[in-house]
Amino acid sequence: MSYVRACAVSDVEDEGALAVEIDGESIAVVRSDGEFFAIRDECSHATVPLSEGDVEDCTIECWLHGSRFDLRSGKPTGLPATKPVPVYPVRVDGDDVLVSLTTNQEFPQ
Ligand code: FES
Repeated sequence: MSYVRACAVSDVEDEGALAVEIDGESIAVVRSDGEFFAIRDECSHATVPLSEGDVEDCTIECWLHGSRFDLRSGKPTGLPATKPVPVYPVRVDGDDVLVSLTTNQEFPQ
C-alpha cells in the first residue's frame, strides 16, 4: 500500500478538516480526538465538500443538510444521506500526514 504526503500535522486543527487533492482526488484530512482520518471530500447526498463541515467525536457533519458520517467507516450516521463516503488509510510520519488512496471498501470510486 503506497502512501503519499497529504499535509503537515500542524496544518489540521483538532476537530478540524483540511481539503487536499491527491492524484486528482479531493480528500478531506480530518483530525478528531487527536487522531487523523481521510475521507472523500464530497458528501454522498449532494456534491458539496465535507471539509467545510463540523467535526466532533470522530464524525463529520455536512454543512448543507446536516448528514453525519463516521470518519472510521465513512458510513452515514444521520439523515438525509444514506450512502457511505469512501475513507482512506492514514498514517503520521513525523510531522507529515500520509494518505493511501487504496481503499478496500466496496464503495464506488
Ligand atoms: S448535501 Fe450533505 S447532507 Fe445534503
